[in-house]
Amino acid sequence: MLAILALLIALPASAAFFAEEPILSLDGEEVVLSWTTESETPPARASFGIEVPEDPFRSPRWRYSAREKGDSLRSRHELRRHLGWWEHPVLDAAGLAEAGGVILARVEAWDPHRKALRYRELRMAYGREDSVVVQLPCISRGPWIDRVTTSDAWLSWTLDQPAKVLVEYGSTVRRMAWKRIEVDTALGAEIRLEGLRPEEEFGYRIIPEGRKSGLRTYTFLTPPETGSWPADGTVTFAFLSDSRAGAGGGIEAVEGTNRQMIRSLLSAADMSGVDFVCFGGDLIDGYVDDPAEYTRQLESWKKAAECVGGHLPIYEGMGNHEMLADFQPVDEDHRGRPPFRDRDGEENSESLFAAAFVNPENGPEPPLNARGKSVSPPFKENVYSFDWGPVHVVAMNNDYDVASHPEDLGGYREGAIPDEQLDWLDADLAAARKRGAQEIFVFAHEPPFPCGGHAGDGMWWNGERPEMLDVRRRFWNILQSYGVRAAMFGDEHNYSALRVDSRLGEEYQTPVWHIVSGGVGAPYYAKDESLPWATHVSAFSTIQHFCRIEVSADGVILSALDAHGRVIDRRPLD
Ligand SMILES: [Fe+2]
Repeated sequence: MLAILALLIALPASAAFFAEEPILSLDGEEVVLSWTTESETPPARASFGIEVPEDPFRSPRWRYSAREKGDSLRSRHELRRHLGWWEHPVLDAAGLAEAGGVILARVEAWDPHRKALRYRELRMAYGREDSVVVQLPCISRGPWIDRVTTSDAWLSWTLDQPAKVLVEYGSTVRRMAWKRIEVDTALGAEIRLEGLRPEEEFGYRIIPEGRKSGLRTYTFLTPPETGSWPADGTVTFAFLSDSRAGAGGGIEAVEGTNRQMIRSLLSAADMSGVDFVCFGGDLIDGYVDDPAEYTRQLESWKKAAECVGGHLPIYEGMGNHEMLADFQPVDEDHRGRPPFRDRDGEENSESLFAAAFVNPENGPEPPLNARGKSVSPPFKENVYSFDWGPVHVVAMNNDYDVASHPEDLGGYREGAIPDEQLDWLDADLAAARKRGAQEIFVFAHEPPFPCGGHAGDGMWWNGERPEMLDVRRRFWNILQSYGVRAAMFGDEHNYSALRVDSRLGEEYQTPVWHIVSGGVGAPYYAKDESLPWATHVSAFSTIQHFCRIEVSADGVILSALDAHGRVIDRRPLD
């Protein structure tokens, strides 16, 4: 069964569908949604709507569906709608008639090759200059606030057209003028907001040139000083992973992601009152050989996550599906599957992941010996750590430079952790304890103690690979020696909580909780009762969920919650 699953994921993605990506433009006072397809495809459907100004999650609010006329196949597609429709008093919930603003469109185009709908969601801004309607630059993806520390934070966004941008930011609780940063003409940017203070709310506005309407003010909170507890005594964060496309099709399978569940669970996590989010890999389907397609899938994930990304920092980690690969020809030796390895050259999975996201850059240098590659993929932004007051969190990458057959192709097996990462982890945890870290959490994608779905890989490999058991033991020993409270993983599309202690063997003298939370949207797995630790698993569920970890001086409480906020499991991690 697992062999069949591996076969499904190891095939390169099919040919491109859009010859020209959908765009929204203005023709006089008409909004024009247009795109072209590589081959002739059936007439398509689109939805038009707005973002409701008072909705912090910016959920698209669709109001009108339109279909292309006729039945004939075509490669040029176009739908038009007069602006007056949005501005009609009965529909103008975003106040567009006054000075313009932001309008939305979603394309649903049938891909006969994949036998699936292709979705694109677009945003367009417009205004009026001397009663003439003009299209204005608009944030098409984002914004995101990341790497929030006691003194600075990083802000990033992507526009639909290159433009100058003014960013204003400052404290929302002190009477001080907001700072201004001007960003020169660019499509996107990552800028640093400096001069922040611990445990305070800050706000920002991103103003593309010419824009006076449809702008939002976002707020975010900075952490307390390293080692000290916040005023309310609690640090809370979410952990979740595995959001690649679901088997349900439709909006559960958009450009390699389960858009519906990413939005639902990130919004639910936000509503549950978390300070930040850790996402443990398999964001996307991946396993593609085209860098543009790989980046498009990561951008699709970002599009889904923008519902909270403007005010809630998200720390992304890599999984096996963050795979931009070189595929080898299929041969008899590999049982009909194309052998693959993380792509050679500057455009490898890790470097494009780092380009797509904003994560801390304090990880180690990668191995000098790239095992036959021309470039060692970086650990930058996929291996890192950060403090949030008394809490220290580490992201490890045990899907680094993965190869299907490392004995032939070089690279590493799924679940392997290069020595450079283990040495860095040891030093990082020592330094964190020295700085006053009270509680430590480590996350990665491949579980050392799989509980359902990945007994044959992860870090366990059915217990049959001595070199994997060795790295697993070294990794777990480091977690024990620094008293890590919980290690959190994905890969298995379910929830499990396992206290790894002396019941599992005399080498586990210091208890460390092993949590798997791979419940965002990828197809599910059932519990595996044959594993040696199966009877010690405290909780297991196949429900789509996120984990909420509440840390205080009294201890740590783990909850697994579904998209409606219903509690699936709740337990102290002691
Ligand atoms: Fe995975």
